[in-house]
Amino acid sequence: MKEKLQQIFKDVFGEGGEVRYYFAPGRVNLIGEHTDYNGGHVFPCALTIGTYAAVRPNNKGALCLYSANFPEQGVREIPLGKMVYKAEDDWCNYPKGMVWVFGEAGLEVKQGLDIVYWGNIPNGSGLSSSASIEVLTGTVLLDQCGWEMDGVQLALLAQKAENKFNGVNCGIMDQFAIAMGKKDHATFLDTADLSYQYVPIALEGVKVVIACSNKKRGLADSKYNERRSECEAALAKLQTRKDIPGLGALTNEEFEEIADVIGDPVKYRRAKHAVAENQRTIQAVSALQAGDLSLFGQLMNASHVSLRDDYEVTGIELDTLVENAWQQEGVIGSRMTGAGFGGCTVSLVKEEAVDAFVENVGKAYLEKIGYAADFYAVSIGDGPGRIG
Ligand code: GLA
Repeated sequence: MKEKLQQIFKDVFGEGGEVRYYFAPGRVNLIGEHTDYNGGHVFPCALTIGTYAAVRPNNKGALCLYSANFPEQGVREIPLGKMVYKAEDDWCNYPKGMVWVFGEAGLEVKQGLDIVYWGNIPNGSGLSSSASIEVLTGTVLLDQCGWEMDGVQLALLAQKAENKFNGVNCGIMDQFAIAMGKKDHATFLDTADLSYQYVPIALEGVKVVIACSNKKRGLADSKYNERRSECEAALAKLQTRKDIPGLGALTNEEFEEIADVIGDPVKYRRAKHAVAENQRTIQAVSALQAGDLSLFGQLMNASHVSLRDDYEVTGIELDTLVENAWQQEGVIGSRMTGAGFGGCTVSLVKEEAVDAFVENVGKAYLEKIGYAADFYAVSIGDGPGRIG
């Protein structure tokens, strides 16, 4: 990978000087969806696929950014100083957001940098390519400017950049999973207080298979923000009955006791999902720790049903992938992962069944949807860092 980046860097910015190399992963969430902005638990892991950067200081007082994924956009020169979101800056708004948020935190970036980015996370797949670029850029800025920061702080800054600079009201899961990733472990994170625990994912003879629906996400961001507001409205009603900081503070029984106060049936179902999904996530992690992979799989399936029927963030593409996955031999569990509305599913599949799984689910998807899905057996990797 380094050789490939080295060559691209030389072609775009020329030879000389010290070029440093960095990597930040993508992430997949195993269970705990749409709980992270409700004070609930999530259970994501970092992947060995992600985003790379080759970086060299320049004397231009600017970030000169080039993406090998979008070579047609050429080099964009972004003068340091006040950073302003501009739609035409496209993906460069992620690095710009990080410079902005560092400035907000009192770390003013004064050193110009030439940067080549290259990522192998499938585009728009819901495996957090944007959070990966943000955390990667943060890692680059820290190293190039000689600053230190722990992973939790970096994740919080990256989330703030996404919320306030890029206007997506996301929770903390993606940036945390990436900044704090650990090889062969998933991160069991309580978003209410950011306490976390690494849980080994030792899946003897079982693969984590991601199926990418290739559906364009379209209105995903606005629908995401809408779900978030629906939960906030439901919480405000529930708080008139019980003193709770978030939906994640309730058990299913406690929720049902006071749920009539919500009034609106749609908001009731949104809140019901957030409460139940949090409880499912806690139960799923206990099951995994007790070696009960089969129960973990059943809870993954139940998560999808709740996201489909109560939270309504799946759609025909993700449902087709998951419902066909459930019918295959050797599938332990399958669900949509990430924000939904398109993107990917995650399935736990017995190793010997993976080929048939890909073939059968792929065929059924193509027949029903009219275009193909892509499948990847993925590995769980470490968080971000310098690689040379
Ligand atoms: C997106 C957001 C996360 C989280 C998930 C849904 O990935 O960025 O914060 O809310 O959706 O679980």
